[in-house]
Amino acid sequence: MKVLVLGSGAREHALVRALVADDAVSEVHAAPGNAGIALDAATHPIDLTDPLAPLGLAKRIGADLVVIGPEGPLVIGAANHLRAAGFATFGPDADAARLEGSKAFAKEVMAEAGVPTALAHVCDSVAEVEVALDQFGAPYVVKDDGLAAGKGVVVTDDRDAALDHARECLAKLGARVVIEEFLDGPEVSLFCLTDGESVVPLQPAQDFKRVHDGDLGPNTGGMGAYSPLPWAPEGMVEDVVARVVQPVVDVLRHRGTPFVGLVYAGLALTSRGIRVIEFNARFGDPETQVVLARLQTPIAHVLLGASNGTLHDVEDLRWHDGAAVTVVVASENYPGVPLLGGVIGGLDEANAVEDAYVLHAGTAPAHDGAIVSAGGRVLTVVGLGADLAAARVRAYEAVDRIELVGSHHRRDIAAAAARGEIQAP
Ligand code: AMP
Ligand code: GLY
Repeated sequence: MKVLVLGSGAREHALVRALVADDAVSEVHAAPGNAGIALDAATHPIDLTDPLAPLGLAKRIGADLVVIGPEGPLVIGAANHLRAAGFATFGPDADAARLEGSKAFAKEVMAEAGVPTALAHVCDSVAEVEVALDQFGAPYVVKDDGLAAGKGVVVTDDRDAALDHARECLAKLGARVVIEEFLDGPEVSLFCLTDGESVVPLQPAQDFKRVHDGDLGPNTGGMGAYSPLPWAPEGMVEDVVARVVQPVVDVLRHRGTPFVGLVYAGLALTSRGIRVIEFNARFGDPETQVVLARLQTPIAHVLLGASNGTLHDVEDLRWHDGAAVTVVVASENYPGVPLLGGVIGGLDEANAVEDAYVLHAGTAPAHDGAIVSAGGRVLTVVGLGADLAAARVRAYEAVDRIELVGSHHRRDIAAAAARGEIQAP
Protein backbone atom coordinates (compact mmCIF):
# COMPACT_ATOMS: atom_id res chain seq x y z
CA MET A 1 0.00 0.00 0.00
CA LYS A 2 1.27 3.49 -0.91
CA VAL A 3 0.28 6.06 1.68
CA LEU A 4 0.44 9.85 1.41
CA VAL A 5 0.44 11.89 4.63
CA LEU A 6 -0.37 15.59 4.36
CA GLY A 7 1.13 18.02 6.85
CA SER A 8 4.43 19.06 8.36
CA GLY A 9 4.24 18.69 12.13
CA ALA A 10 5.35 16.16 14.72
CA ARG A 11 1.86 14.65 14.52
CA GLU A 12 2.56 13.83 10.87
CA HIS A 13 6.03 12.57 11.79
CA ALA A 14 4.38 10.18 14.28
CA LEU A 15 1.93 9.01 11.58
CA VAL A 16 4.76 8.51 9.08
CA ARG A 17 6.74 6.54 11.64
CA ALA A 18 3.78 4.27 12.38
CA LEU A 19 3.15 3.72 8.67
CA VAL A 20 6.82 2.95 7.95
CA ALA A 21 6.68 0.29 10.69
CA ASP A 22 3.64 -1.36 9.05
CA ASP A 23 4.55 -4.32 6.76
CA ALA A 24 1.44 -3.71 4.67
CA VAL A 25 2.87 -0.35 3.57
CA SER A 26 5.31 -0.35 0.65
CA GLU A 27 5.83 3.41 0.29
CA VAL A 28 5.25 6.37 2.57
CA HIS A 29 5.06 9.86 1.07
CA ALA A 30 4.59 13.11 2.95
CA ALA A 31 3.77 16.62 1.79
CA PRO A 32 5.23 19.01 2.59
CA GLY A 33 6.84 17.21 5.56
CA ASN A 34 9.85 18.57 7.44
CA ALA A 35 13.54 17.76 7.93
CA GLY A 36 12.81 14.77 10.18
CA ILE A 37 10.00 13.32 8.08
CA ALA A 38 12.35 13.51 5.07
CA LEU A 39 14.60 10.96 6.78
CA ASP A 40 11.72 8.44 6.96
CA ALA A 41 9.62 9.12 3.85
CA ALA A 42 9.67 10.69 0.40
CA THR A 43 8.68 14.34 0.83
CA HIS A 44 7.06 16.58 -1.76
CA PRO A 45 6.81 20.36 -1.68
CA ILE A 46 3.13 21.27 -1.85
CA ASP A 47 0.93 24.25 -1.10
CA LEU A 48 -1.66 23.02 1.38
CA THR A 49 -3.66 26.25 1.03
CA ASP A 50 -4.58 25.03 -2.48
CA PRO A 51 -7.46 22.52 -2.08
CA LEU A 52 -6.54 20.81 -5.36
CA ALA A 53 -2.81 20.36 -4.70
CA PRO A 54 -3.18 17.12 -2.67
CA LEU A 55 -5.24 15.54 -5.47
CA GLY A 56 -2.55 16.31 -8.04
CA LEU A 57 0.11 14.73 -5.86
CA ALA A 58 -2.03 11.67 -4.99
CA LYS A 59 -2.46 11.05 -8.73
CA ARG A 60 1.26 11.45 -9.46
CA ILE A 61 2.32 8.92 -6.84
CA GLY A 62 -0.69 6.60 -7.22
CA ALA A 63 -1.63 6.76 -3.53
CA ASP A 64 -3.79 3.95 -2.12
CA LEU A 65 -4.57 5.99 0.98
CA VAL A 66 -4.29 9.71 1.79
CA VAL A 67 -4.13 10.74 5.45
CA ILE A 68 -4.80 14.42 6.12
CA GLY A 69 -3.03 15.71 9.23
CA PRO A 70 -3.92 19.37 9.79
CA GLU A 71 -7.30 21.13 9.82
CA GLY A 72 -6.42 23.69 7.14
CA PRO A 73 -6.76 21.39 4.10
CA LEU A 74 -9.89 19.77 5.58
CA VAL A 75 -11.73 23.03 6.05
CA ILE A 76 -11.02 24.12 2.44
CA GLY A 77 -12.23 20.81 1.00
CA ALA A 78 -9.05 18.91 0.08
CA ALA A 79 -10.79 15.66 1.13
CA ASN A 80 -13.81 16.42 -1.08
CA HIS A 81 -11.61 16.56 -4.17
CA LEU A 82 -9.62 13.44 -3.24
CA ARG A 83 -12.71 11.34 -2.51
CA ALA A 84 -14.54 12.58 -5.60
CA ALA A 85 -11.58 11.33 -7.66
CA GLY A 86 -11.77 7.92 -5.98
CA PHE A 87 -8.90 8.14 -3.48
CA ALA A 88 -9.40 6.48 -0.10
CA THR A 89 -9.06 9.53 2.15
CA PHE A 90 -8.72 9.73 5.92
CA GLY A 91 -10.21 13.11 6.85
CA PRO A 92 -13.68 14.66 6.59
CA ASP A 93 -15.17 16.72 3.76
CA ALA A 94 -15.36 20.47 4.34
CA ASP A 95 -18.98 20.36 5.57
CA ALA A 96 -18.18 17.84 8.31
CA ALA A 97 -14.88 19.55 9.17
CA ARG A 98 -16.93 22.55 10.32
CA LEU A 99 -17.18 20.58 13.56
CA GLU A 100 -13.72 22.07 14.15
CA GLY A 101 -13.80 25.04 11.77
CA SER A 102 -16.72 26.78 13.49
CA LYS A 103 -17.32 26.66 17.22
CA ALA A 104 -20.87 27.93 16.62
CA PHE A 105 -21.54 25.01 14.23
CA ALA A 106 -20.11 22.55 16.78
CA LYS A 107 -22.50 23.92 19.42
CA GLU A 108 -25.44 23.51 17.01
CA VAL A 109 -24.53 19.86 16.28
CA MET A 110 -24.04 19.14 19.99
CA ALA A 111 -27.44 20.61 20.80
CA GLU A 112 -29.05 18.42 18.13
CA ALA A 113 -27.15 15.33 19.34
CA GLY A 114 -27.91 16.01 23.02
CA VAL A 115 -24.21 16.19 23.89
CA PRO A 116 -23.23 17.87 27.17
CA THR A 117 -21.07 20.97 26.66
CA ALA A 118 -20.43 24.37 28.24
CA LEU A 119 -23.29 26.85 28.02
CA ALA A 120 -22.37 29.44 25.44
CA HIS A 121 -23.48 32.65 23.76
CA VAL A 122 -22.46 33.40 20.19
CA CYS A 123 -22.05 37.19 20.04
CA ASP A 124 -21.51 39.61 17.17
CA SER A 125 -21.23 42.85 19.11
CA VAL A 126 -19.29 44.12 22.11
CA ALA A 127 -22.56 44.96 23.86
CA GLU A 128 -23.70 41.33 23.59
CA VAL A 129 -20.30 40.19 24.86
CA GLU A 130 -20.63 42.36 27.98
CA VAL A 131 -24.03 40.90 28.82
CA ALA A 132 -22.74 37.33 28.33
CA LEU A 133 -19.61 37.90 30.45
CA ASP A 134 -21.68 39.27 33.31
CA GLN A 135 -24.18 36.45 33.08
CA PHE A 136 -21.51 33.73 33.44
CA GLY A 137 -19.13 35.64 35.76
CA ALA A 138 -15.41 34.92 36.22
CA PRO A 139 -13.37 33.05 35.15
CA TYR A 140 -14.28 34.34 31.69
CA VAL A 141 -13.91 32.12 28.60
CA VAL A 142 -13.72 33.98 25.27
CA LYS A 143 -13.25 32.09 21.99
CA ASP A 144 -12.66 33.11 18.41
CA ASP A 145 -15.40 31.42 16.35
CA GLY A 146 -13.01 30.36 13.56
CA LEU A 147 -9.75 28.44 13.33
CA ALA A 148 -6.94 29.87 15.45
CA ALA A 149 -4.43 27.02 15.92
CA GLY A 150 -5.32 26.60 19.60
CA LYS A 151 -4.49 30.23 20.31
CA GLY A 152 -7.95 31.75 19.86
CA VAL A 153 -9.11 31.09 23.40
CA VAL A 154 -8.59 33.33 26.39
CA VAL A 155 -9.51 32.14 29.88
CA THR A 156 -9.08 34.90 32.45
CA ASP A 157 -10.38 36.44 35.67
CA ASP A 158 -9.75 39.90 34.23
CA ARG A 159 -12.94 41.26 32.65
CA ASP A 160 -11.02 43.91 30.68
CA ALA A 161 -8.68 41.29 29.20
CA ALA A 162 -11.72 39.19 28.26
CA LEU A 163 -13.32 42.19 26.54
CA ASP A 164 -10.09 43.07 24.73
CA HIS A 165 -9.85 39.56 23.28
CA ALA A 166 -13.51 39.66 22.24
CA ARG A 167 -12.91 43.00 20.47
CA GLU A 168 -9.92 41.51 18.61
CA CYS A 169 -12.01 38.54 17.47
CA LEU A 170 -14.87 40.79 16.35
CA ALA A 171 -12.53 43.09 14.41
CA LYS A 172 -12.25 40.47 11.65
CA LEU A 173 -14.80 40.86 8.85
CA GLY A 174 -18.08 39.08 9.64
CA ALA A 175 -16.53 37.55 12.75
CA ARG A 176 -18.35 36.22 15.78
CA VAL A 177 -17.08 35.45 19.22
CA VAL A 178 -18.23 32.73 21.61
CA ILE A 179 -18.53 33.44 25.36
CA GLU A 180 -18.71 30.30 27.48
CA GLU A 181 -19.37 29.06 30.95
CA PHE A 182 -16.08 28.05 32.65
CA LEU A 183 -15.56 24.28 32.98
CA ASP A 184 -13.60 23.11 35.99
CA GLY A 185 -11.88 19.71 36.22
CA PRO A 186 -9.16 17.70 34.47
CA GLU A 187 -9.09 17.70 30.67
CA VAL A 188 -9.03 14.60 28.46
CA SER A 189 -8.40 14.26 24.73
CA LEU A 190 -10.18 11.26 23.24
CA PHE A 191 -9.63 10.42 19.57
CA CYS A 192 -12.18 8.28 17.76
CA LEU A 193 -11.81 6.81 14.28
CA THR A 194 -14.99 6.78 12.24
CA ASP A 195 -16.10 5.84 8.74
CA GLY A 196 -19.22 7.95 9.18
CA GLU A 197 -21.12 5.20 10.98
CA SER A 198 -18.92 2.97 13.18
CA VAL A 199 -16.80 4.55 15.90
CA VAL A 200 -13.55 3.09 17.27
CA PRO A 201 -11.92 4.94 20.18
CA LEU A 202 -8.15 5.20 20.65
CA GLN A 203 -6.56 5.41 24.11
CA PRO A 204 -7.19 8.72 25.92
CA ALA A 205 -4.41 11.26 26.46
CA GLN A 206 -3.92 14.57 28.24
CA ASP A 207 -2.48 17.65 26.58
CA PHE A 208 -0.78 20.67 28.22
CA LYS A 209 -2.06 23.79 26.49
CA ARG A 210 -0.43 26.59 28.48
CA VAL A 211 3.10 27.64 27.70
CA HIS A 212 4.59 27.58 31.23
CA ASP A 213 4.91 25.06 34.06
CA GLY A 214 1.96 24.98 36.43
CA ASP A 215 -0.42 25.79 33.53
CA LEU A 216 0.61 29.44 33.52
CA GLY A 217 0.91 31.80 30.56
CA PRO A 218 -1.02 31.92 27.30
CA ASN A 219 -2.52 28.97 25.42
CA THR A 220 -0.40 27.28 22.75
CA GLY A 221 -0.97 24.53 20.20
CA GLY A 222 0.13 22.10 22.97
CA MET A 223 3.39 21.80 24.93
CA GLY A 224 3.33 18.10 25.84
CA ALA A 225 1.11 15.09 26.41
CA TYR A 226 0.91 11.69 28.06
CA SER A 227 -1.03 8.46 27.87
CA PRO A 228 -2.55 6.47 29.54
CA LEU A 229 -4.46 8.46 32.18
CA PRO A 230 -4.14 6.38 35.37
CA TRP A 231 -6.66 8.66 37.09
CA ALA A 232 -9.42 8.29 34.47
CA PRO A 233 -12.71 6.88 35.81
CA GLU A 234 -13.59 3.29 34.90
CA GLY A 235 -15.66 3.16 31.72
CA MET A 236 -14.85 6.75 30.70
CA VAL A 237 -13.98 5.89 27.10
CA GLU A 238 -17.12 3.81 26.50
CA ASP A 239 -19.17 6.56 28.13
CA VAL A 240 -17.74 9.26 25.85
CA VAL A 241 -18.27 7.12 22.75
CA ALA A 242 -21.89 6.41 23.72
CA ARG A 243 -22.87 9.89 24.93
CA VAL A 244 -20.69 12.17 22.81
CA VAL A 245 -18.96 10.81 19.72
CA GLN A 246 -21.47 8.29 18.35
CA PRO A 247 -24.38 10.78 18.65
CA VAL A 248 -22.37 13.47 16.84
CA VAL A 249 -21.30 11.05 14.09
CA ASP A 250 -24.96 9.97 13.72
CA VAL A 251 -26.23 13.57 13.50
CA LEU A 252 -23.66 14.45 10.82
CA ARG A 253 -24.59 11.35 8.80
CA HIS A 254 -28.32 12.09 9.06
CA ARG A 255 -27.66 15.66 7.93
CA GLY A 256 -26.09 14.24 4.77
CA THR A 257 -22.55 15.28 5.74
CA PRO A 258 -21.01 12.05 7.09
CA PHE A 259 -17.76 12.47 9.03
CA VAL A 260 -14.93 10.24 7.78
CA GLY A 261 -11.67 10.36 9.68
CA LEU A 262 -10.96 11.22 13.28
CA VAL A 263 -13.21 12.99 15.76
CA TYR A 264 -11.12 14.58 18.49
CA ALA A 265 -13.22 15.15 21.59
CA GLY A 266 -11.66 17.66 23.99
CA LEU A 267 -13.40 17.02 27.30
CA ALA A 268 -13.51 18.36 30.83
CA LEU A 269 -14.39 15.97 33.67
CA THR A 270 -16.38 18.37 35.82
CA SER A 271 -18.16 17.81 39.12
CA ARG A 272 -21.40 17.80 37.12
CA GLY A 273 -20.17 15.17 34.65
CA ILE A 274 -18.34 15.05 31.34
CA ARG A 275 -18.56 18.19 29.17
CA VAL A 276 -17.21 18.75 25.68
CA ILE A 277 -14.80 21.71 25.48
CA GLU A 278 -14.19 21.42 21.75
CA PHE A 279 -14.11 19.09 18.78
CA ASN A 280 -11.32 18.84 16.28
CA ALA A 281 -11.68 17.10 12.94
CA ARG A 282 -8.21 15.51 12.94
CA PHE A 283 -5.54 13.88 15.08
CA GLY A 284 -4.41 16.16 17.94
CA ASP A 285 -0.88 17.43 18.25
CA PRO A 286 1.00 16.52 20.50
CA GLU A 287 -1.40 13.80 21.81
CA THR A 288 -0.99 11.71 18.64
CA GLN A 289 2.70 11.31 19.44
CA VAL A 290 1.89 9.45 22.68
CA VAL A 291 -1.22 7.62 21.49
CA LEU A 292 0.51 6.14 18.43
CA ALA A 293 3.56 5.29 20.56
CA ARG A 294 1.31 2.88 22.46
CA LEU A 295 -0.60 1.39 19.52
CA GLN A 296 0.53 -2.15 18.66
CA THR A 297 -1.91 -2.85 15.82
CA PRO A 298 -0.45 -1.97 12.40
CA ILE A 299 -2.13 1.31 11.51
CA ALA A 300 -2.55 1.36 7.72
CA HIS A 301 -5.54 -0.99 7.34
CA VAL A 302 -7.22 0.66 10.34
CA LEU A 303 -7.03 4.09 8.68
CA LEU A 304 -8.01 2.52 5.35
CA GLY A 305 -11.04 0.85 6.98
CA ALA A 306 -12.20 4.22 8.33
CA SER A 307 -11.63 5.77 4.89
CA ASN A 308 -13.58 3.22 2.84
CA GLY A 309 -16.53 2.42 5.12
CA THR A 310 -15.33 -0.91 6.53
CA LEU A 311 -14.24 0.12 10.01
CA HIS A 312 -16.59 -2.49 11.57
CA ASP A 313 -14.45 -5.22 9.95
CA VAL A 314 -11.23 -4.05 11.61
CA GLU A 315 -10.12 -6.19 14.55
CA ASP A 316 -9.98 -4.79 18.11
CA LEU A 317 -6.98 -2.51 18.58
CA ARG A 318 -4.12 -3.78 20.72
CA TRP A 319 -2.14 -1.46 23.01
CA HIS A 320 1.14 -1.52 24.90
CA ASP A 321 0.56 -1.64 28.65
CA GLY A 322 3.28 0.92 29.28
CA ALA A 323 3.16 4.71 29.21
CA ALA A 324 4.31 7.39 26.78
CA VAL A 325 5.19 11.03 27.51
CA THR A 326 6.00 13.69 24.93
CA VAL A 327 7.64 17.06 25.57
CA VAL A 328 7.52 19.87 22.99
CA VAL A 329 10.66 21.92 22.42
CA ALA A 330 9.51 25.35 21.23
CA SER A 331 11.29 28.30 19.62
CA GLU A 332 12.19 31.43 21.53
CA ASN A 333 9.12 33.66 21.93
CA TYR A 334 6.55 30.96 21.00
CA PRO A 335 3.48 31.24 21.17
CA GLY A 336 4.25 34.80 20.11
CA VAL A 337 6.06 35.37 16.79
CA PRO A 338 8.83 32.74 17.06
CA LEU A 339 12.52 33.30 16.32
CA LEU A 340 13.46 30.90 13.53
CA GLY A 341 16.58 29.64 11.78
CA GLY A 342 18.52 28.45 14.85
CA VAL A 343 20.77 25.44 14.38
CA ILE A 344 19.51 22.38 16.29
CA GLY A 345 22.18 20.27 17.96
CA GLY A 346 22.07 17.03 19.89
CA LEU A 347 19.49 15.22 17.75
CA ASP A 348 21.55 12.03 17.41
CA GLU A 349 22.41 12.12 21.09
CA ALA A 350 18.74 12.49 22.02
CA ASN A 351 17.72 9.65 19.70
CA ALA A 352 20.42 7.48 21.33
CA VAL A 353 18.59 7.59 24.68
CA GLU A 354 17.02 4.19 25.24
CA ASP A 355 13.21 4.18 24.90
CA ALA A 356 13.18 7.73 23.57
CA TYR A 357 13.05 9.33 20.14
CA VAL A 358 12.71 12.73 18.55
CA LEU A 359 9.86 13.68 16.23
CA HIS A 360 10.27 16.80 14.13
CA ALA A 361 7.75 19.62 13.87
CA GLY A 362 9.06 23.00 12.66
CA THR A 363 12.44 21.93 11.24
CA ALA A 364 14.11 22.48 7.89
CA PRO A 365 17.41 21.41 6.33
CA ALA A 366 20.06 24.13 5.92
CA HIS A 367 22.45 24.22 2.96
CA ASP A 368 25.37 22.91 5.00
CA GLY A 369 23.47 19.78 6.09
CA ALA A 370 22.50 21.22 9.47
CA ILE A 371 18.89 21.14 10.68
CA VAL A 372 17.42 24.48 11.70
CA SER A 373 14.26 25.61 13.47
CA ALA A 374 11.45 26.64 11.12
CA GLY A 375 8.34 26.88 13.31
CA GLY A 376 7.00 27.72 16.76
CA ARG A 377 6.95 24.13 17.91
CA VAL A 378 10.26 22.63 16.75
CA LEU A 379 10.46 19.07 18.10
CA THR A 380 8.46 16.70 20.22
CA VAL A 381 10.52 14.26 22.18
CA VAL A 382 8.83 10.98 23.12
CA GLY A 383 9.78 8.82 26.10
CA LEU A 384 8.42 5.33 26.81
CA GLY A 385 8.37 3.40 30.05
CA ALA A 386 6.54 0.91 32.22
CA ASP A 387 4.70 3.81 33.85
CA LEU A 388 4.46 7.58 33.51
CA ALA A 389 7.34 8.22 35.92
CA ALA A 390 9.69 6.02 33.87
CA ALA A 391 8.50 7.48 30.56
CA ARG A 392 9.08 11.01 31.92
CA VAL A 393 12.66 10.17 32.84
CA ARG A 394 13.35 8.95 29.28
CA ALA A 395 11.67 11.91 27.63
CA TYR A 396 13.52 14.51 29.71
CA GLU A 397 16.84 12.69 29.38
CA ALA A 398 16.48 13.08 25.62
CA VAL A 399 15.17 16.67 25.80
CA ASP A 400 18.20 17.66 27.87
CA ARG A 401 20.49 16.56 25.03
CA ILE A 402 18.85 18.93 22.51
CA GLU A 403 20.58 22.24 21.86
CA LEU A 404 18.70 25.16 20.35
CA VAL A 405 19.50 28.68 21.49
CA GLY A 406 16.55 30.41 23.14
CA SER A 407 14.30 27.34 22.99
CA HIS A 408 12.01 26.47 25.85
CA HIS A 409 9.94 23.53 27.08
CA ARG A 410 7.84 22.64 30.08
CA ARG A 411 9.44 20.60 32.86
CA ASP A 412 6.19 19.34 34.38
CA ILE A 413 4.60 17.29 31.59
CA ALA A 414 2.80 14.32 33.22
CA ALA A 415 4.38 15.16 36.59
CA ALA A 416 1.17 15.52 38.60
CA ALA A 417 -0.30 12.37 37.05
CA ALA A 418 2.90 10.41 37.75
CA ARG A 419 2.68 11.49 41.41
CA GLY A 420 -0.98 10.41 41.57
CA GLU A 421 -2.12 13.95 42.22
CA ILE A 422 -4.88 14.21 39.63
CA GLN A 423 -8.35 13.46 40.89
CA ALA A 424 -11.28 12.85 38.60
CA PRO A 425 -14.45 14.15 40.31
P1 AMP B 1 -10.18 25.17 22.69
O1 AMP B 1 -9.45 25.88 21.57
O2 AMP B 1 -11.66 25.35 22.64
O3 AMP B 1 -9.73 23.77 22.83
O4 AMP B 1 -9.66 25.79 24.05
C1 AMP B 1 -8.31 25.73 24.40
C2 AMP B 1 -8.17 25.51 25.88
O5 AMP B 1 -8.83 26.56 26.60
C3 AMP B 1 -8.81 24.24 26.39
O6 AMP B 1 -8.00 23.10 26.25
C4 AMP B 1 -9.04 24.59 27.84
O7 AMP B 1 -7.85 24.44 28.59
C5 AMP B 1 -9.40 26.04 27.79
N1 AMP B 1 -10.85 26.17 27.74
C6 AMP B 1 -11.61 26.25 26.62
N2 AMP B 1 -12.91 26.35 26.93
C7 AMP B 1 -13.00 26.31 28.28
C8 AMP B 1 -14.09 26.37 29.21
N3 AMP B 1 -15.37 26.51 28.81
N4 AMP B 1 -13.80 26.29 30.52
C9 AMP B 1 -12.52 26.17 30.92
N5 AMP B 1 -11.45 26.12 30.12
C10 AMP B 1 -11.68 26.19 28.79
N1 GLY C 1 -3.49 19.36 21.17
C1 GLY C 1 -4.48 20.22 20.73
C2 GLY C 1 -4.82 20.16 19.32
O1 GLY C 1 -4.32 19.36 18.57
O2 GLY C 1 -5.65 20.96 18.91
